[in-house]
Amino acid sequence: MAEIRLNNLVKQYENGFQAVKGANLEIADGEFLVLVGPSGCGKSTMLRMIAGLEEVTSGDVFVGDRRVNNLEPGDRDIAMVFQNYALYPHMTVRQNMSFGLRMRKTPKAEIEKRVADAVQILSIESLLDRRPKELSGGQRQRVAVGRAIVRQPEAFLFDEPLSNLDAKLRVQMRTELARLHQRLKTTTVYVTHDQVEAMTLGDRIVVMKDGIIQQVDSPLNIYRRPVNRFVAGFIGSPAMNFLEGEIVDGIFQSGEVAYPLNQNGLSGPAILGFRPEDLTIDPSQPKILDAELEVVEQMGHETIVYFQLAAQPMVARLEGNSGSSPGDRLALGLPQGTWHLFESTGEQKRISN
Ligand SMILES: Nc1ncnc2c1ncn2[C@@H]1O[C@H](COP(=O)(O)OP(=O)(O)OP(=O)(O)O)[C@@H](O)[C@H]1O
Ligand SMILES: [Mg+2]
Repeated sequence: MAEIRLNNLVKQYENGFQAVKGANLEIADGEFLVLVGPSGCGKSTMLRMIAGLEEVTSGDVFVGDRRVNNLEPGDRDIAMVFQNYALYPHMTVRQNMSFGLRMRKTPKAEIEKRVADAVQILSIESLLDRRPKELSGGQRQRVAVGRAIVRQPEAFLFDEPLSNLDAKLRVQMRTELARLHQRLKTTTVYVTHDQVEAMTLGDRIVVMKDGIIQQVDSPLNIYRRPVNRFVAGFIGSPAMNFLEGEIVDGIFQSGEVAYPLNQNGLSGPAILGFRPEDLTIDPSQPKILDAELEVVEQMGHETIVYFQLAAQPMVARLEGNSGSSPGDRLALGLPQGTWHLFESTGEQKRISN
C-alpha cells in the first residue's frame, strides 16, 4: 500500500481548457478519500491522471516514493474501477478477473488463490462461469471490483462506481465497499455525486469546483465549517439556505429578518447560511423568520417544508410529524452556533467562527 501525493497538478486539454488548475493533495496510506464536485469540475480528469490514463500537463503524481508521471498505467500498481464496469464481454467472470494477472505472467497457482479470495470477499462464487451479459448491474460491478482486488494494487481509484445501480443496490454496494476497505485498508480515491456516499465512505472529502480544490477535510468538519459558500451549498441535502443581507450592530438584517448574532466583530454586507435541519419550531430558540408554507412533505420521522423568503426558495427540515399544511405560517427559530456567515462578494469566504 502507499500514499499518493499530487504536487501542483495541472491538466490542460489540447483545446486550451484547463480542467485541473494546480491541485495539491496528500492521500495517506490506507486512507479512503472521496472526491466530489459538480459535473465538469475535473474529478475524472484528476483520477485519470493518477491512473495514468491522461497525460499530466505539469506537476507531479507520486505513489509512495515513486514519481509516476511517466509510467504507463499498467506499471503504476493502481487499479481503477469505472462507472460502466468495462468488463471484457467475451470472457467469463473468472477470465475477466484473472486477465490482468495472466498478462503479467503471474504463476497460475497464485492467480487461482487471489481469484478465490476475491470471489469469497465479494460473494460471487456462483457467477464464475458466466459472461458479463448474463449478470445484473450490481453483479457486474462486483466483478469489476473483484478484478481490481486480485491485482493487490497500491491503490484503488473509483469513478462513480455505483451510479448505474438502482437506489437499493447502491446502498448495499456502498456498505460492501466500506467493509472491503476496512478489511483490505488499501489507499482509495473515490469519485461520487452522491452526498451520502461522500459523507459515509470518506475518511476525508475533497470538494472541487472549476478545476480548483476548495476544501479538504473530514466529512463532519466540512459539514460544520464549510470554508466558503460554494462548499456550504454543495455538501448537505437538502442544501443550506442562504440569505443576503447586512450586519448592523451585531444584528443580521435582510428584509423582514433581524437575527441577533452572538459573535462580535462582524459588520457590513454578508450572506447568512443556515441548514434546513437547524431550523426549529422550538420557541425557546432565537427566531429568524416567519415562513408561509408552500409545500409540506410528511416523511413520518421528519417533515420537510418549503417556503419563500425575499423571493428565494427556502427549506426547513423539522423533526417528527409537524402537522403543518400548505398555507400555514410557522415561526422558525435558529439556534446560535448553527449558522454560517460568508462574504457577499468574491470567493464568498467564510467569515464566522
Ligand atoms: N479531451 C478533452 N478535451 C477538452 N476538454 C475536456 C476533455 N475531457 C474533458 N474535458 C473538460 O474538462 C472538464 C472536466 O472534465 P471531467 O470529466 O474531469 O469532469 P468531472 O468532474 O468528472 O465531471 P462529471 O461529474 O460530469 O463526470 C469538463 O469541463 C470537460 O468538458
Ligand atoms: Mg467524471
